[in-house]
Amino acid sequence: MIGMITLDRRDAKRPGHVRPDAAEAELGYMFLPEAWGCGYAAEACAAALDWFAGALPGEPVVLCTQTANDRSMRLAAKLGFTEVERFEEYGAEQWFGAWCPGSGPRR
Ligand SMILES: CC(C)(COP(=O)(O)OP(=O)(O)OC[C@H]1O[C@@H](n2cnc3c(N)ncnc32)[C@H](O)[C@@H]1OP(=O)(O)O)[C@@H](O)C(=O)NCCC(=O)NCCS
Repeated sequence: MIGMITLDRRDAKRPGHVRPDAAEAELGYMFLPEAWGCGYAAEACAAALDWFAGALPGEPVVLCTQTANDRSMRLAAKLGFTEVERFEEYGAEQWFGAWCPGSGPRR
């Protein structure tokens, strides 16, 4: 195992939402440092988003990451996530973005 990606429902109590009832599908990713820089995370996330678009057509996916996390910010942009808002959480500025099927490049 070199890493994992997750799709969970976003906690309604946290900041950052695009649906009135919250509980959006949220993408997460975490890979071992030795596996960075190979495109594995992008490939895995694109496959998960493709699957999600077929499983729950039209549903958005959200993503939250620290703005200081350059690799994560680059990955979010590459996957086609666009900024919804920024806010402070856990003592750092957070970038909150959303992706909709067909809204942007995923590879
Ligand atoms: C965020 C994280 C998953 C990004 O990993 P990553 O490997 O940089 O992401 P990608 O899969 O998009 O790979 C992109 C890199 O692979 C390179 N690459 C090499 N071969 C490639 C290929 N065949 N196809 C695509 N990209 C390739 C790209 O050039 C790019 O390198 P660069 O960033 O040096 O320009 C990783 O840094 C991580 O796990 N961090 C810790 C956990 C974390 O912070 N998660 C987010 C919390 S919200």
